[in-house]
Amino acid sequence: MKIPKTSRNYDEVLTEMSSKGSEDLDYKNGKSWSLVYYIDDDYYAFLKKAHNSYFSENGLNPMAFKSLKQMEAEVVSMTSAMLHGGEEAVGTMTSGGTESILCAMKAYRDRAKKKKPWILRPEVVIPNTAHVAFDKAAHYFGIKLRHAPINAQGQADVQAMRKLINRNTILLVASAPQYPHGTIDPIDEIGALAERRGLPLHIDACFGGFMLPWLEKIGLPVPAWDFRVPGVTSISADLHKYGFAAKGASTITYRDMSYLTHQFFITTDWCGGIYASPSMAGTRPGGPIAAAWAAMQALGEAGYCDLAQKAWDASEALRGGIGLIPELRLLGLPHATIVTYASASDAVDLYAVADQLAAKGWDVGRQQNPASVHLTVNANNASVVDEYLNDLREAVTTVKEDPELKRNGEAAMYGMMAKIPLRGLVKHSVRKVMEGMYAPGGGAPDMANLGSDDKDGFILGLVNKYGDQAQLALDKLDAAKTRMRKIIGRNPG
Ligand SMILES: Cc1ncc(COP(=O)(O)O)c(C=O)c1O
Repeated sequence: MKIPKTSRNYDEVLTEMSSKGSEDLDYKNGKSWSLVYYIDDDYYAFLKKAHNSYFSENGLNPMAFKSLKQMEAEVVSMTSAMLHGGEEAVGTMTSGGTESILCAMKAYRDRAKKKKPWILRPEVVIPNTAHVAFDKAAHYFGIKLRHAPINAQGQADVQAMRKLINRNTILLVASAPQYPHGTIDPIDEIGALAERRGLPLHIDACFGGFMLPWLEKIGLPVPAWDFRVPGVTSISADLHKYGFAAKGASTITYRDMSYLTHQFFITTDWCGGIYASPSMAGTRPGGPIAAAWAAMQALGEAGYCDLAQKAWDASEALRGGIGLIPELRLLGLPHATIVTYASASDAVDLYAVADQLAAKGWDVGRQQNPASVHLTVNANNASVVDEYLNDLREAVTTVKEDPELKRNGEAAMYGMMAKIPLRGLVKHSVRKVMEGMYAPGGGAPDMANLGSDDKDGFILGLVNKYGDQAQLALDKLDAAKTRMRKIIGRNPG
């Protein structure tokens, strides 16, 4: 596609755009469990007005747009008060959870450079359920992650974290809650460990930051996780999730300026002038900052608590219903508004169940290790809980009656991906998909036909050409592994 030679009429352009979304996720009908935090059309109209009133403004220069800087300061201050940050707490807004995490990792790396210059290869100790944005940050900033295992409830194993600390450690991380299962790590214990070892502790509350405070307020027993826990030095909390702000809004809050100062980038030598920037972005769009401020004012504590109560009730109803399906098991602890389930029976392949749900129009979040389905629950999902549970029960029955369904559709691909022992091959295949998406003329991949015409996308090609045989071979490998484990179990010597 090329830029049109001549200008086009505004209405014509908008009409063309309005016809484009027909295959996109329908987030308004309650059948999606991720990506969009929708309340209702009235609220969205209000939020769009707020966003558009600062559509052109640029937070890059706070002197040029003082009102925007003021709103950012107020958003940070309201967030910090919600997180019990105390008088000295400071922070910035960012474009999202990933940027908040990148900022924190950069700040702690630079802080360590200053305070412990002998550390040449900085390391961060992190539970293996922490969000992948930490891996991204580690990749970008030359930091090594040391992953600690989780216990049976999905919580970080604190003793394992302790053992991973060494002289290169610059930071500990915990989540409130972690995304895959919705469990809050034992943050009081990790805070105590951080204090004993003189290390900072970042809490990733990108998901729960704007939910847990309200669950606590409505009287639910939320484990300690915020700045009230000694040892916690920073918290990332997303406004564009349960803050119900416009996309592009998160916060990173530190206990005091001694940490935040390392997040800043300042250079005095550039011929374009002295340049100082608080976060990863250069230009900082005004819309998300203004919309976040407006969301917090419009909803207030009462609005947030009401939405939290509805999302919590829907989560509990889902947990209750799924708990009654013998072929399924819930993962994690019920700390938040995430519901995750896996298969509890060899006769039911969860990815095949996921395919059945997708065929009924549900948006399905597939996870691995173990194969599981993830639901982010919102107030607007409440109306579809019964329908979801009915469809889920039906999907389980269908898969139980026809186990071969695991060899079809996306189930075959996810199943194989999860079992391939050489993760490098999987990575290679995924890179091929990315290259296809971002090649000239690329678009969203067609999941049903992935890799069919791709010699290099090894796994995906394999699934498409030899799905059945490859799956059978992997099943045999699995069975052999299980037999070996049993034999070793009987004869440990
Ligand atoms: C716990 C947690 N941390 C970080 C992120 C990353 O947030 P974003 O997608 O806004 O970059 C997410 C997103 O779901 C999350 O759940």
